[in-house]
Amino acid sequence: MSNSKPVADLEGLTRVRNLLSSRRTLSRFADKAVDRELVLGAIDVARWAPNHNLTEPWHFYVLGPEAIKTTIECVRARATEAKGEEMGRRKARRAENVPSWVVVTCRRSEDEIEQREDYAATSCAIHNMALYLWEAGVGMKWCTGSMANTTFYADALGLDSGPEFIVGILRIGYPLNLPTQKRKAASLVTTILE
Ligand SMILES: Cc1cc2nc3c(=O)[nH]c(=O)nc-3n(C[C@H](O)[C@H](O)[C@H](O)COP(=O)(O)O)c2cc1C
Repeated sequence: MSNSKPVADLEGLTRVRNLLSSRRTLSRFADKAVDRELVLGAIDVARWAPNHNLTEPWHFYVLGPEAIKTTIECVRARATEAKGEEMGRRKARRAENVPSWVVVTCRRSEDEIEQREDYAATSCAIHNMALYLWEAGVGMKWCTGSMANTTFYADALGLDSGPEFIVGILRIGYPLNLPTQKRKAASLVTTILE
């Protein structure tokens, strides 16, 4: 990893701006495998996220075939429980079409402020992954919901929810289509305090 600082130029800034603003959360993926090396490369850059006191609070679980099977069954079970069997089938089918999965956890801290900071850092790490992958033409969906916010799925994967908790279940793949999104104007969310 180079320590050289990028030189600011208009072309570079435009490229970064495009990368940041064009990235979209994907719900549907093309039927195309994602190279494991690319995913590992994304994890490699995720580590460079800012993290207070260098706690490096994150862990990345790259799911293999058995863990993916478990994941799909958990998706099915949760959707069935919440919205019935038909929805369970639909959500499981959607999950079966996800080429690659990574589960990202954050260490637990007894200190409330440290926990907030570690969670923020882990979120930055996930976004590092998202941007790296997007540059390679690969998108993701960062999922939370009851799969992440209860211990049901962590237990099924064999993770110990004592020392860590799930921050994101990442569905990764090439886009089938490109969703559109909008944001409020920066002027509406910016206040200059003199
Ligand atoms: C912390 C976090 C949790 C999210 N959880 C979910 C989720 O459970 N399901 C989902 O469909 N999208 C989830 N998303 C993705 C957001 O819905 C998405 O970022 C938002 O709709 C804006 O779309 P964009 O990412 O394409 O700009 C999550 C995003 C974040 C940052």
